Amino acid sequence: MRLDLGLFVYLMINFIYFAPQFLQTSMILVRTVTELKSVLQSSGQAGSAGFVPTMGALHRGHLSLVEKAVDENPLVVVSIFVNPTQFNDPKDLERYPRTLESDLKLLESTGCQVVFAPDVTEIYPEPDTRKFDFGQLDKVMEGKHRPGHFNGVAQVVSKLFEMVQPQKAYFGLKDFQQLAIIKSMVKQLNLPVEIIPCPIVREQSGLAMSSRNELLSAEERTNAATISQTLFKAKELRTEKSVSELEKWVTETINKNPFLKVEYAEIVDDTLLQPVKSWHDHSVKVLCVAVFCGKIRLIDNIVFN
Ligand code: PAJ
Repeated sequence: MRLDLGLFVYLMINFIYFAPQFLQTSMILVRTVTELKSVLQSSGQAGSAGFVPTMGALHRGHLSLVEKAVDENPLVVVSIFVNPTQFNDPKDLERYPRTLESDLKLLESTGCQVVFAPDVTEIYPEPDTRKFDFGQLDKVMEGKHRPGHFNGVAQVVSKLFEMVQPQKAYFGLKDFQQLAIIKSMVKQLNLPVEIIPCPIVREQSGLAMSSRNELLSAEERTNAATISQTLFKAKELRTEKSVSELEKWVTETINKNPFLKVEYAEIVDDTLLQPVKSWHDHSVKVLCVAVFCGKIRLIDNIVFN
């Protein structure tokens, strides 16, 4: 009874504080799972929300997911949580941009109703010791170069799904392997959520939008456009070269730019993400790259179909 009263008072304070925004856009910020569940219950849409998980530092790529979710669902929840368990490099976690105030302003314009921005202790009241097994799916590319990364992604996304109980969840094709991992996790856990893939949004230069782009100097950002320009050109060249020749060409072309260093450039099939040897099998092929621009690691991909 005391807890309910406390919660009621908290929600009233939250409502009064956010009243001007709430009246204009009906967007509410919640910080705990208890508040989230209460807001979902009172909305009458519990179990049928559209959900967009993010780590914040939002840009037009994220907003395209939210806008699609708003078009397709009566209630949309966006989470903003920099998940420590998916960072294999502590420096990367430390420098990851955190911009809640401006994120909220951007989200207000999309028409999403609920923003869930929990603290680490709210998501991990105790360490998550679960180990997922994705077979070959996380033995390549990001999984190979960032050990433990996808286990951390699966830990947080499975917890967020449990908290939000969405009917549909939106993920960007920018993180092609992450999308495959999430689809696999949903099947493994029999979760009643539909995963909706969303196209990559790019800057005018072609550079795939990313929160990490904010960490690049102006000069690095200009040079980082070589990555996507090389991918576009590779798509044109694919009839003239073998798979391995094209991978080599991509690596050499990007590495010619002194600001860039390729970690991997691989052509894989679009479902199991296993390396493709020849153009002649029937799989849809995707060229995926990870490239260091100074200290910042960027990923991008292009589908060949
Ligand atoms: P984050 O990098 O913030 O990305 C959140 C979502 O936005 C992901 O689905 C990502 O693929 C999508 N996204 C990012 N840049 C995009 C772009 N340029 N075009 C289209 N979509 C883009 O991915 C994560 O966070 C985390 O791993 C998360 C799933 C939230 C788990 O912590």
